[in-house]
Amino acid sequence: MHLRSTQLIAAAFFSCLLLWFGISLNRTTSPPPAPVQIPTEPPNPNDEQPFYNIPAASHLMGHNGIKNLSNPRIQMAKVHIAVSQSDMPTFPLMQPLDVKLPASTEITITDDLNDPAVSRPATTRTTVKIPRLPHTQPDASAFIFGLATTYERLEESLDTISHWSSNSNTKIIGHMQPSLDPDAPDRVLKKAQSLSVPLGTIESGLEFLDRYFTLLKVLYENRTPTTKWYVFIDDDTFFLSLSNLVQTFRKYDPELPWYIGALSEDFNQMATWGYMAYGGGGIFLSHGLVETLLPYYDGCFKRRNTGDKMLAQCIYKHTNAKLTWEHNLHQLDLHGDHSGFYEALRPQPLSIHHWKSEDFQSIVDVYNMSRVASVCGNSCILQKFRFANDWVLTNGYSIVKYSHQDAGYRDLGKDISMERTWEFYGGTGMQHFEHSLGPLRKMDEGGKVSFRMESAVVEEDGRRIRQLYVKRTHLEGEYSGRGEVEGVIEVEWSQA
Ligand SMILES: *[C@@H]1O[C@H](CO)[C@@H](O)[C@H](O)[C@H]1NC(C)=O
Ligand SMILES: *[C@@H]1O[C@H](CO)[C@@H](O)[C@H](O)[C@H]1NC(C)=O
Ligand SMILES: *[C@@H]1O[C@H](CO)[C@@H](O)[C@H](O)[C@H]1NC(C)=O
Repeated sequence: MHLRSTQLIAAAFFSCLLLWFGISLNRTTSPPPAPVQIPTEPPNPNDEQPFYNIPAASHLMGHNGIKNLSNPRIQMAKVHIAVSQSDMPTFPLMQPLDVKLPASTEITITDDLNDPAVSRPATTRTTVKIPRLPHTQPDASAFIFGLATTYERLEESLDTISHWSSNSNTKIIGHMQPSLDPDAPDRVLKKAQSLSVPLGTIESGLEFLDRYFTLLKVLYENRTPTTKWYVFIDDDTFFLSLSNLVQTFRKYDPELPWYIGALSEDFNQMATWGYMAYGGGGIFLSHGLVETLLPYYDGCFKRRNTGDKMLAQCIYKHTNAKLTWEHNLHQLDLHGDHSGFYEALRPQPLSIHHWKSEDFQSIVDVYNMSRVASVCGNSCILQKFRFANDWVLTNGYSIVKYSHQDAGYRDLGKDISMERTWEFYGGTGMQHFEHSLGPLRKMDEGGKVSFRMESAVVEEDGRRIRQLYVKRTHLEGEYSGRGEVEGVIEVEWSQA
């Protein structure tokens, strides 16, 4: 949401304040952190790996990492998963693995292969079947994407934009705020080129909201003969799989007036902003709709509001198009810990948002999260794998073991409910999210153990990926993200 007038800012600030009070008064209190339940099977003696170094271990040391640097020992386990392509059409919601997550052993972490003190963690190997990998990106020439942003923010996002947009015949137009740094435009375009991001930019001194709304005209003027969909995104909108996106839109006839996007997950937001497509999940306007709207452009431009609201007002006032809600697009209006969303047994989201918001708890490194696609394809991102001892890997995100009290534990593999890990409003607050994310279940506070992915290293031109999942001590008031390192699980993916 981007506010225009001071009045709106004041209103939003006031409602945030109320919300904040509501949350802090009614917040469920967490019990003290449970001891780490790292399993205790002995290490596999057949593992012939002669020495061990942790990829990018340095981020585990020092600040926010291991406190005693003169003795950087750590509890660690390793899993090696080789993937083999098969004729299975898609992944099941959860795929069983035939091995247990191995016991962790204490090792010394180092980047130095010649260090005589290096030891190796217990390692388990397995092979999993995956759907056959596509050889190329889809042809997305029917889509043109637009975003209003600054050079600095766009530069930061290019790696992630490259994941979904490269080599797909699509077009992305950035409506840029002029930068004080004269080198910025050139630098950003060069970086985009090196990452195969099909970026073009225009620049204007308009305010943010006007640059956003103006995209309607800018995208139309930059269309090609194949353009059918005009898509408004934020610089932190992330598409996991462009193939899924293209496939999803096949069912709509773009010559008809379609207005497609996602509602807010939070009904309170809708009480304020209304029934409309919220920008972060991506707003998709068909060619038919855009041609109908353009004659009203000037009038709509004058009705000041947030960018996504301006679009909605314009569409509702002048056409009979109504929002079509594509449920797998996600604005992700959730405060606090988003893990329940990512770990739920649901189809892969089409889009996610707010993954780099300033709310630390919701930060997800989507770049590293999606690296594993080079080994096992986009459909493998966030795919759930269940170890024989009931640990659950959400690929690129976490490895968790639910507590025995939790419904998700009893029905692991079948329970599609989403653990409500984010802040809610006490009492009836769960209901505020059920229209979008239900069924929900309450937070597992009985001793769930979580390792979050913090690093992914690509080796052998993408044929091997080493992911590090880290458990940290719990700090009051937030998920374990900033605590001290308590244990590490490395998952190495390679092609069989
Ligand atoms: C907090 O809880 C109290 C008592 O259960 C309830 O009356 C109040 O409405 C709740 N506040 C919010 C913001 O949900
Ligand atoms: C750090 O490790 C060294 C070497 O094992 C040990 O002598 C020292 O007591 C440790 N310091 C702390 C604060 O634990
Ligand atoms: C991804 O992981 C690598 C390896 O640890 C790390 O250097 C990098 O900072 C991480 N995040 C991004 C966005 O590259």
